[in-house]
Amino acid sequence: MTQSFAADNNVFVIKHPLVQHKLTIMRKKETSTSKFRRLAGEIAMLLAYEVTRDMPMTFTEIETPIAKMQAPILKGQELVLVSILRAGNGILDGMLRLIPSAHVGHIGLYREPKTQVAVEYYFKMPPNMPERDVIIVDPMLATGHSAVAAIDRVKEQKPKSIKYVCLLAAPEGVSFVHEHHPDIPIYTAAIDQGLNEKAYIVPGLGDAGDRMFGTL
Ligand code: URA
Repeated sequence: MTQSFAADNNVFVIKHPLVQHKLTIMRKKETSTSKFRRLAGEIAMLLAYEVTRDMPMTFTEIETPIAKMQAPILKGQELVLVSILRAGNGILDGMLRLIPSAHVGHIGLYREPKTQVAVEYYFKMPPNMPERDVIIVDPMLATGHSAVAAIDRVKEQKPKSIKYVCLLAAPEGVSFVHEHHPDIPIYTAAIDQGLNEKAYIVPGLGDAGDRMFGTL
């Protein structure tokens, strides 16, 4: 059986054909806002499936119409999806469709245009973070500044674990995140060539937030 992901140095590239096909349509400049948003949600569901593969399980006794059995269920407190505003919300929705019981945190960050440094304007997490596993979501891992700022802040809450999920990554962003946080696994559908002078991913898909919300 061929693996649906390639793992290297704590980076998991989800190679599933459906993910790759949908990503290609998202990249095309003529793809409409509604189609872009729908595809982001669909890819997010598929990424959620991969990123939750190792979730801890336990057993509970249930009764089917035929017999009693010990049946597997997820163990522990509901996990937390943390969306980096605003583009993170475009993949948050898809993930919530697959994991409806997840709790949700939000981090508002914007890129200071001259320095590309991430500035925080909003931070709200669910309670009991030390008992929870966290998945941080943002479609584009570009310079990695926002990702590192988000991971720094989430780590202050001392959750059980943190994973980072994006649709697309630049090698610069992956390196920057792992220079600061080598312990954080990154899940992505593709790693592109690099960044241009405006810190956009090349070839990328443009501004994910603008394309998702029709604010081009
Ligand atoms: N953010 C985006 O939306 N697109 C990029 O290419 C880089 C950062």
